[in-house]
Amino acid sequence: MKIAVLCGGISPERDVSLSTGSQVAMALKKKGHSVALIDSAADYPDGFDALFTAEARGAGTGIGESAPDISSLLTRGGYFGKNVVEILKSADIVFNAMHGAAGEDGTLQASLDLMGIKYTGSGAKGCSVSMDKTVTKRMLAPVKNVRMPRGIHVMRDEFGLDPQNTLKTVITEVGLPLVVKPACGGSSVGVSIVNDAAELKKAFELSLSYEPKAVVEEFVDGREFSCGVLGDTALPPIEIKPRSGFYDYRNKYQQGLTEEICPAHISERAANEMKLAALTVHRELGLSAYSRTDFRMTSDGVIYALEANTLPGMTAMSLIPQEAAAVGIGFGELCETIIAESLKKYDKA
Ligand SMILES: Nc1ncnc2c1ncn2[C@@H]1O[C@H](COP(=O)(O)OP(=O)(O)O)[C@@H](O)[C@H]1O
Ligand SMILES: [Mg+2]
Repeated sequence: MKIAVLCGGISPERDVSLSTGSQVAMALKKKGHSVALIDSAADYPDGFDALFTAEARGAGTGIGESAPDISSLLTRGGYFGKNVVEILKSADIVFNAMHGAAGEDGTLQASLDLMGIKYTGSGAKGCSVSMDKTVTKRMLAPVKNVRMPRGIHVMRDEFGLDPQNTLKTVITEVGLPLVVKPACGGSSVGVSIVNDAAELKKAFELSLSYEPKAVVEEFVDGREFSCGVLGDTALPPIEIKPRSGFYDYRNKYQQGLTEEICPAHISERAANEMKLAALTVHRELGLSAYSRTDFRMTSDGVIYALEANTLPGMTAMSLIPQEAAAVGIGFGELCETIIAESLKKYDKA
């Protein structure tokens, strides 16, 4: 197949995306496909067809200790670099590796739909409802088999007008400890765990510096897991054990800082409950091909879903590839399965 792996983008998850993109491109090349690795923000020359035959090269320089500064890219105007759309049009399918913002929130998906370009993963609607954690929560509230932490959200204007009163209300309504996080963020960027009322103001300032809506929810004390869905089946849950602190940006992407165990050492009942929840989230939010839902489980075995990821990380060491490996699906095969499952959404259309 002729595959354009699209990565980069202009969100704080840019480095993660470059990393996913280069590894997916390399794996698909090894499987014998014609693959071009395309940075959405780069300019390409007119004779771009050669890109599909060139040796796969890595994009970017790896993932740093913190999210990259994307301010220079934001001011360049326009989302795609020169010839990027033409390259995407010339491929049989676009492997979407654009974590964060427009690449994951349905904007890119809707644009590609309008241009008749096929892509991997969920469609525009599923992506847009999953991107906003407050919308996800509302959609899943009446759904059986999925429990989410109790929470509210706070808008930047509300906080700006009366910070003291907002802080007081939040503590009364949610209680301590709690978590503050950007509604549409990812990769734990802007997330704070607040144990003490004195830390709450800083947590809001951080979250609201990324976007105008902050989610505040009860802190779920316990162990952390994630569970992927591939096609119609749930993969085995993986346990995530940061060596210190919580699963923040650094612990997510710096090697050796987090222990990941797959299949997770939990009871069959707990694993099945998580799998059923992950599948239910996938179906209720209208997702396609693959997704990954994050979970926490308390010491007495109560399972909470934190969020759904429509564009989960896809480096060989990412969570879904580890879950797939646990059932004998190698990284290259996983990339090909994602493509095959994604093409099914066009059969139904
Ligand atoms: N309610 C919560 N209780 C405990 N930890 C949480 C809670 N919400 C988020 N976290 C921690 O913050 C991390 C990131 O939160 P998450 O909702 O998965 O957002 P994202 O991964 O999109 O940044 C989680 O992996 C978890 O470690
Ligand atoms: Mg998460």
